[in-house]
Amino acid sequence: MRTTADQVPEPAIQVRGLAKSYGRLEVLRGVELDVARGTILALLGSNGAGKTTLVKILSTLLRADAGSATVNGFDVATQAAEVRESISLTGQFAAVDQVLSGRENLVMVARLRHLGNPGAIADDLLDRFSLGEAGARRVSTYSGGMRRRLDISMSLVGNPRVIFLDEPTAGLDPEARVEVWQAVRGLAEQGTTVLLTTQYLEEAEQLADRIAILHRGCILVNGTLTELRRLLPPATVEYVEKQPTLEEVFLAVVGHRGQDVPTEMHPASAPAGEEKA
Ligand SMILES: Nc1ncnc2c1ncn2[C@@H]1O[C@H](COP(=O)(O)OP(=O)(O)O)[C@@H](O)[C@H]1O
Ligand SMILES: [Mg+2]
Repeated sequence: MRTTADQVPEPAIQVRGLAKSYGRLEVLRGVELDVARGTILALLGSNGAGKTTLVKILSTLLRADAGSATVNGFDVATQAAEVRESISLTGQFAAVDQVLSGRENLVMVARLRHLGNPGAIADDLLDRFSLGEAGARRVSTYSGGMRRRLDISMSLVGNPRVIFLDEPTAGLDPEARVEVWQAVRGLAEQGTTVLLTTQYLEEAEQLADRIAILHRGCILVNGTLTELRRLLPPATVEYVEKQPTLEEVFLAVVGHRGQDVPTEMHPASAPAGEEKA
């Protein structure tokens, strides 16, 4: 079961006024974000919006210029070691060793993390990610979706409570994408908090409990799909009421050509704990 905000008062991820520039390029300009434990948040943004920059700051790979962030209650700036122990980060490019089998990859990671009984850990994860039969085969024989699933399973060795997935399905075909979605859903069902970045709006629709849109350095909107849809009036076609798609909401919020956002699109902070429709 997923935990709700009222059971656990402290969010797994809390970001306040976070700012980061590269030279004169202001990438993050006061990011505010909460992610409740055991939920999936999709961070949407165009290419170059600053998604990876935010994930790097939250996973302590990069320091913010201003503002603060906690992950699992630990401050990313002053308690980096504790943050690292309780998270994992999976990048866009699979970090698996092609020559080894899936199982050997997992055993290797468990050994590197000095965990007892690496074989059992590997078998459990192979099972969870439906890779049991493929476990003994070299990764070079895996499909793209299998590789990415193995990559995600490797990041779960040691049971991190928060996992960052930076564009986990970039470059995958639709079938492989669905496989990865199933794996990510399984994570949240086990209580892991997932922050995933994506440029695919359908991915956010399919997976996320909440969706946050990062644009021009700030989180423009943050809500459930239902809440985001409410930002736009439903388009009516004859007798059928059509819900706006996330794509329509996204384009309305960030502007079709990146022009300024209409002020009425900035919602008041959305109510917490509401379930996705
Ligand atoms: N190390 C860096 N030095 C200078 N500019 C960078 C660096 N990393 C990222 N950028 C720039 O910061 C912006 C945000 O990058 P990034 O966080 O990777 O965006 P996203 O992941 O949303 O595509 C982009 O314009 C990118 O070119
Ligand atoms: Mg990126």
